[in-house]
Amino acid sequence: MSFLRLEGIEKRYGAASVINGVSISAREGEFVVFVGPSGCGKSTLLRMIAGLEEVTAGEVFIDGARVTELEPAKRKVSMVFQSYALFPHMTVRDNIAFGLKMSKVPKAEIERQVAEAARILQMEPLLDRKPRQLSGGQRQRVAIGRAIVRHPKLFLFDEPLSNLDAELRAQMRVEIARLHRELGVTMVYVTHDQVEAMTLADRIVVLRGGRVEQVGSPDELYDAPGNTFVAGFIGSPKMNLITAAVAAREGAALTVTHPSLVAPLHVASRQGGGGQSGPGVGDTVLLGLRPEHLMLGEGPNQIELTADLSESLGGSTLIYAQTRAAEPMVLQAAGRRLLGKGETFTAGFDAARAYVFDKDGRAF
Ligand SMILES: Nc1ncnc2c1ncn2[C@@H]1O[C@H](COP(=O)(O)OP(=O)(O)OP(=O)(O)O)[C@@H](O)[C@H]1O
Ligand SMILES: [Mg+2]
Repeated sequence: MSFLRLEGIEKRYGAASVINGVSISAREGEFVVFVGPSGCGKSTLLRMIAGLEEVTAGEVFIDGARVTELEPAKRKVSMVFQSYALFPHMTVRDNIAFGLKMSKVPKAEIERQVAEAARILQMEPLLDRKPRQLSGGQRQRVAIGRAIVRHPKLFLFDEPLSNLDAELRAQMRVEIARLHRELGVTMVYVTHDQVEAMTLADRIVVLRGGRVEQVGSPDELYDAPGNTFVAGFIGSPKMNLITAAVAAREGAALTVTHPSLVAPLHVASRQGGGGQSGPGVGDTVLLGLRPEHLMLGEGPNQIELTADLSESLGGSTLIYAQTRAAEPMVLQAAGRRLLGKGETFTAGFDAARAYVFDKDGRAF
């Protein structure tokens, strides 16, 4: 049974439609991540789950109860924001305890709760400091501590790590994963960072323009994106998309050609796309190849490219190249393989790693 359920949620601000019919659910204990471009409605959706924003239409259910009109304090939900919003004049201890004090929780119980949160977040030595004496990551931990002591049934995070530098982000990401394991509470987490999405999520919800594009586990979205938008959003560097033509079709298998392909390529549908739907002979399609699936010189299928620029990442190299149709292609090659501008080369790939999308971007 789902623990959190959104049914046909819509949100309009005057004439502007911001959320356009979102229905999703989360199981108890599940870690669900919302991703999508800026302005697609991630924060609005999260605020509607918290009750900080009214829905224009639709229903919200938490733990079996309809909470659509319930005030935020009664939803047993804690939200952690990008800005920590700590009280600067209070110690860490008092910041964490604040909500409990306001709710008139007995002193001994508050102390016990604060100690427990400090243990979970490994903040015991910091309890007597003021926020200005903390790093960004430590401040964010205090904000999470404040959420933990409320014992929410549901944690909501809105880009909690986006103010932190890369190293601290990675560290906090691991801590949030650990927190989820330790507490076992359902979490909904908004992020721009696709590494966070891939590593933290049990399931990812990809949003665009207030609509759900696709829902699935990180691997499902990576292996079988339903359209070019999801294909471009999951995976880094982005999937390469080049314009190819259908030379033959046999049920759920296509043969495609491209000026840079050494031989016609046979691709099987990932969507069980038999029948009559999908592209046919003579149609233009988009062929998708991920940078990490293109191997210099090797592979059963070969594509001829011209190098523009190479960037060594130490253990691997990013090669920016062009196809014979002057389309950009990025390859991620193992080791250090610096190719000079104008150098032509072949890359190989496995047909099982190739994706085909029709002219409207739908996966075949
Ligand atoms: N109070 C408001 N009045 C009018 N429009 C609003 C209001 N709040 C948000 N919007 C609009 O709703 C859309 C969704 O906003 P939201 O903050 O949910 O996006 P987001 O996905 O969280 O973006 P970001 O990644 O930049 O945080 C945006 O186009 C925004 O301009
Ligand atoms: Mg936002």
